[in-house]
Amino acid sequence: MKIDIQSNYSLQPYNTFGIDVKCSYFVSVESFEELIEVLKSEIAKTKKLLILGGGSNLLLTQNIDALVIKMNLKGVVIEKETEENVWVSAFAGENWHEFVLKTLEMNCYGLENLSLIPGCVGASPMQNIGAYGVEIKDYFDHLEALNLETLAIEIFDNTSCEFGYRESVFKRKYKGKYIITKVVFKLNKNYQTNTSYGAIEQELSKMGINAPTPKNVSDAVISIRKSKLPDPKEIGNSGSFFKNPVVSVELYQKIKNQFPEVVAYEVDDAHYKLAAGWLIDNAGWKGKTIGNYGVHKLQALVLVNYGGATGKEIYNLSEAIILSIQEKYGVTLEREVNIL
Ligand code: EPU
Repeated sequence: MKIDIQSNYSLQPYNTFGIDVKCSYFVSVESFEELIEVLKSEIAKTKKLLILGGGSNLLLTQNIDALVIKMNLKGVVIEKETEENVWVSAFAGENWHEFVLKTLEMNCYGLENLSLIPGCVGASPMQNIGAYGVEIKDYFDHLEALNLETLAIEIFDNTSCEFGYRESVFKRKYKGKYIITKVVFKLNKNYQTNTSYGAIEQELSKMGINAPTPKNVSDAVISIRKSKLPDPKEIGNSGSFFKNPVVSVELYQKIKNQFPEVVAYEVDDAHYKLAAGWLIDNAGWKGKTIGNYGVHKLQALVLVNYGGATGKEIYNLSEAIILSIQEKYGVTLEREVNIL
C-alpha cells in the first residue's frame, strides 16, 4: 500500500473558514489500513498529529507544524435491527448531512433535526453536535476509536463519551489521545417528530404541513438554516463561534432587569442559558465588517471570512467581542470553535 504524505501543504480547502495556512505534512486516508500505515510512519512518530474531519469547527491562526491526517474513511452500514430500531454505522469520513439524508432514505428516523450541520460523522460526537432540540447523544449507540498509544480499537458507549452541551470526553481528558473511526446510531423505524423548537413549527406551518414526516422536518430545518446561516462554500465560517453561556439565576435576573428582552432558557433552579447571539446582537456587533471579515449580518453568533482574512484577525475580533460582552453584561463567552 502506498501512502502519499505531502509536505508544506495548504490547509485552505480543508477548513470551512477558508483560512490559508500551511501544515508541515498532510495525508488523506481512505481506509483503516491506510490510517494504521500512516500512524506507523517515521513522520507520525516524530511530529504532532492533527486529525481533520470536515474542518468545520476550526480556526487556524498560524502555520501548523504537524502531520495533518484528513479522515476520508467512507461507508454506511445497517448493523442490526429489531422491530422498533435500526443500528446504522457510518465511517468517520462520511459527510454529516449526506449521512442524515441517507438515514431518512433508509426510513431510519431521529437525526432529521440535525440536517445541514457542516462537518463529518467522525467529528459529530466530539462536541455532541446539536440543533433544534436534538443532540446526537439522543440517538448515539457507540463509537469505535483508535487509541493512538496502543493502536487498538476501543469502544465508547453513550456513558463513556460523557456527553454534555457541545462537549464530550474527547474534548477533555482524551483530547488528542484517540481517533474516532466509526459511529453507530440507534435510530427509530417508527417516527415521532420533534418540532418543539419554535422556528421549526413556524417553518412547517409556512410550508402548510400539520402532520410532518421526518423528511418534512429535515426540509424545514434546511430551509431555516439556509435563511439564517451562511453557506461555508460561499462565505467562510464555522457556524456558531461561541457557546450559549450558562449563568446563575442571580446574574440572569440582573441582566433581565436591565435588558427585559434578553433571550434565555431555564436550565435548572439555579441556572439560565442565555442566547449568545442575542447578547452579541444587542451589543451592536451584528453585521459589523472589518475589511474582509466580520460578524454575520443575520446571525451574530457566526463570524465570517469574506475571503483573504487571517485566522489571527478573526481571533482578535472574537477577543474584542468577548471583552465587550463581559463589560456590557458581566458574562464571559466561551468559544465553541477550536483555535489552533
Ligand atoms: N438571536 C438574536 N440575534 C442574533 C442571533 C440570535 O437576537 O443575531 C436570538 C434569536 O432571535 C433567538 C435566540 O437568539 O431568540 C436563539 O437563536 P437561534 O434559535 O438562532 O439559536 P442559537 O442559540 O443562536 C443554537 C446553536 C446552533 C443551532 C441553533 C438551532 C449554539 C452555540 N448554537 O444557536 O448551532 O443551529 O441553536 O438549534 O448552541 C452551531 O453549533 O454551529 C450552530 C449553528
